[in-house]
Amino acid sequence: MFRPRPDGAVATIPVEVEGRVVRVPAGASAAAAVLLAGLTSIRDTAIGGGERAPYCMMGICFECLAEIDGVPNRQSCMIAARPGMRINRQSGARPAPSGEIE
Ligand code: FES
Repeated sequence: MFRPRPDGAVATIPVEVEGRVVRVPAGASAAAAVLLAGLTSIRDTAIGGGERAPYCMMGICFECLAEIDGVPNRQSCMIAARPGMRINRQSGARPAPSGEIE
């Protein structure tokens, strides 16, 4: 089902993970970029500060929450990496949104 291209070429795109530019295969998720960058964690838990990293890679565990392009709490395994995307560590809980609840 998954075969390498005959010419061996894999198109890559540059993304920034914790300030470091990493090239990832086109179509890879932001969580894959975190793992390809060699990080062992991408967030700290709100209670206890335990380190977490992408785990299930399919949107179930929420261990991959990260700040992506300045927006916290993004589920990085469900977001395709884009050229120039900035992925950063998320520490603790994000601030609650202000405004009215409908
Ligand atoms: S790695 Fe499990 S939800 Fe993203």
